[in-house]
Amino acid sequence: MAIDLDDARRRYHYSFSPDDHDRLPFYSALLLALESDDLALEVLAAVPEEQRNPMLVLAALHLAALRGHSVLAPIYSGARHGDLPDPVSAARTVLGVFHDDPGLVRVELHRRTQTNEPGRAAVLQAVIVEVARRSGEQINLIDVGTSAGINLYLDYFPVRSVDDGEPLTLVCEDLTTVDRRQALPDIVSRVGIDLSPLDLHDDDDRLWLRACLWPEENRRHVRLDAVIEARHSWPVATVLTGDALDCLSDALSLGRPGITTVVVNTWAVAYFSKTAQRTYFDEMVRRCASGAVAWVSIESPFTVAWPAPSGEGAPPRKGGSQILATLPGAAPSTWGWCHPHGHWLWLKVPT
Ligand SMILES: C[S@@+](CC[C@H](N)C(=O)[O-])C[C@H]1O[C@@H](n2cnc3c(N)ncnc32)[C@H](O)[C@@H]1O
Repeated sequence: MAIDLDDARRRYHYSFSPDDHDRLPFYSALLLALESDDLALEVLAAVPEEQRNPMLVLAALHLAALRGHSVLAPIYSGARHGDLPDPVSAARTVLGVFHDDPGLVRVELHRRTQTNEPGRAAVLQAVIVEVARRSGEQINLIDVGTSAGINLYLDYFPVRSVDDGEPLTLVCEDLTTVDRRQALPDIVSRVGIDLSPLDLHDDDDRLWLRACLWPEENRRHVRLDAVIEARHSWPVATVLTGDALDCLSDALSLGRPGITTVVVNTWAVAYFSKTAQRTYFDEMVRRCASGAVAWVSIESPFTVAWPAPSGEGAPPRKGGSQILATLPGAAPSTWGWCHPHGHWLWLKVPT
């Protein structure tokens, strides 16, 4: 297979939004350094296409820091705690470590980008309220590409427009009217599907989850700690290991009969092959047509191009993820747009 360095360069270049570059000077400098570095390009270009995400390289370096690498650990800890006076020189040092020992990254590239972002639950809540308004007060929930299953507990995260400092609170700016007092449906069963699910009880899995976070976003680290702590008291969920398409029937059979099952995927189909994306779309349209299933998809339009769904055309802010939904018995349409981590939401539910 030919190595496409230009493709790798583009992936580094576009992986952060302008807003991310402004907010996160260390990761911004590191991405810019990686984008112009031949070794970093080669390493990314050699990753199988579905996983060729610069976040994998960033997470591998972060993992080494979390494991106590003598040079990286103080840099990443400084970044997390707002104590990194010169982010550009820190990024240069990280690149130097990578050059001295490329194996540090290469040995982790069998992993997947498995960021499990509860911020997306703020968006899922708003959409699922609208789905339930049309299909019943109880639902079965299936999360495709569930990673550590955190968003199977989307109803355990309070959503606010202003941060109240509570670790589990999600802050979401609603750009359209969302009635956050509207009760969520009762989630009577929770089933996740993942090719390689992460286990919050496993030390290595927890470390990888944390490595997938961005070091300068301490709020997300604090939230992950709170999730690990709170998870013990949350209801049981079932997680199926395998490919989404292979496991879907089993997942559907685990729900309580007679109520709607809402299948969600958030930043997961982006990691399917193009053929599998299309097969998944057809399969979800077919399942929804049967009348017992609703589907909520939140994915980047740059990595997942659904076959011309009707609805709202363009994101109100750069880098928005597309919210596609399908009610039982209906056809898919775009319901709105959101920040990839749920920082903002623009929702216009079709009448
Ligand atoms: C970036 S994570 C997103 C996790 C979660 N949905 C979220 O939004 O926080 C993508 C997840 O999809 C899983 N995944 C990728 N391809 C898959 C497939 N074909 N079937 C099932 N899971 C898959 C990966 O293992 C990974 O855990």
